Amino acid sequence: MGKTLSILTKNFKNINVDTIDDYLAAGGYEGLRKVLSLTPAEVIEVIKASGLRGRGGAAFPTGKKWEQAARVKEDSYILCNADEGEPGTFKDRYFLEFDPYRIFEGMTIAAYTVGGREGFIYIREEYRRQREIVLKALEAARAAGFLGKNILGSDLSFDIKVVSGAGAFVCGETTALIQSMEGGSGRPKIKFQRTAVSGLFGRPTLANNVESYCVVPILFTKDAPVYLSQGTEKSKGSKVISLCGNVERPGVYEVPFGITLREIIYEIGGGIKNGREFKFAQIGGASGPIVSKSLLDLPYTYEDFGKKGYSLGTGAILVADDTNSVAEFMVTIQEFFVHESCGKCTPCREGNRQLLKLAHKIADKKATVEDFLTVKRIANVMNKCSFCGLGTAAPTAMVSAIQHFYDMYN
Ligand SMILES: Cc1cc2nc3c(=O)[nH]c(=O)nc-3n(C[C@H](O)[C@H](O)[C@H](O)COP(=O)(O)O)c2cc1C
Ligand code: SF4
Repeated sequence: MGKTLSILTKNFKNINVDTIDDYLAAGGYEGLRKVLSLTPAEVIEVIKASGLRGRGGAAFPTGKKWEQAARVKEDSYILCNADEGEPGTFKDRYFLEFDPYRIFEGMTIAAYTVGGREGFIYIREEYRRQREIVLKALEAARAAGFLGKNILGSDLSFDIKVVSGAGAFVCGETTALIQSMEGGSGRPKIKFQRTAVSGLFGRPTLANNVESYCVVPILFTKDAPVYLSQGTEKSKGSKVISLCGNVERPGVYEVPFGITLREIIYEIGGGIKNGREFKFAQIGGASGPIVSKSLLDLPYTYEDFGKKGYSLGTGAILVADDTNSVAEFMVTIQEFFVHESCGKCTPCREGNRQLLKLAHKIADKKATVEDFLTVKRIANVMNKCSFCGLGTAAPTAMVSAIQHFYDMYN
């Protein structure tokens, strides 16, 4: 299958994760060995130079985040966000299931770099099988001396525990995740200081997505030049996507940044299922935009999507064929957000309910021009005033659908 890569994902379905041996034979922990010969400042420089941006959705520069965390003098908790609640997103599940040692290696590099002794992987509650795999792999890594005291004979002592997610989409948001870990209700919390300074139990915390941690070891191995030669100047390397919906070959794929949506859907995904026509795709999960045919040749990069006011989100790409109704899809999306809004703030709690009513009206072909303007007004307030990213991003689908498919609502 042309266009897909096998650098970050080379171990998927190729190694036995019951023992650590296959991971080691495939070059595992070479990155950590190299890192232990560098200073934390040098490690951060390598990550900054790679241009790595967080793969959890917000695309915050990883090097910058680690630099902020490293400035804090106390030890940090090293937190791995494997909550993966965004609809259509299932790429982190593959890392947990098919390459768990890579996650541990990335987190251990983080512990060395920012200063940390304890790590947590917060795994989506529904991922029970993956949780068992990770727990078993942790034991194997510990027995082989890659976790615990004086890792690889160095001064570094670090271990990882697993925490089960609280079962709500919002718990993937860092502050809500932390609240739920502390035993509170999983709702976002105001940040007076950065998480790097005050996070879990008020202690310094470095929080990253599964895929972000998994990219890090590569940057310190012989695969680094190959990995970094992929993509574009501003979006280097690869992205792991979860392709789903009406395509012939749905699945998890590693793609170079810069590939077009058309290539992803037709070459990697094998085209639209049952020979139907493409109608729209939703990029980055339920919080992402709906794009029409006119954007099929848009390169899949942070910068190209950014110019349109969109983000790549989590890497989910959901494809719909010509039998699907955009308006009915909007109803489903809004039902999701009404269900998942935690209710803490008015713009999100009430805004999503109003958008759902309007989505129904549109789907029933009863909407007026004033209704479409109301969608935009509500979206604007939600976007500017919601307390967390769930509320700010919730109207993206509806607003972009109106932009691309206005005629279809009439
Ligand atoms: C509603 C909501 C859900 C989120 N869910 C996840 C998630 O499941 N996994 C994740 O890594 N980040 C999620 N995030 C983003 C995190 O808040 C955070 O930005 C990310 O974990 C940081 O890691 P990164 O910099 O490596 O991407 C979510 C954000 C919001 C607003
Ligand atoms: S934006 Fe939504 S999910 Fe976030 S705090 Fe407000 S009500 Fe809760």
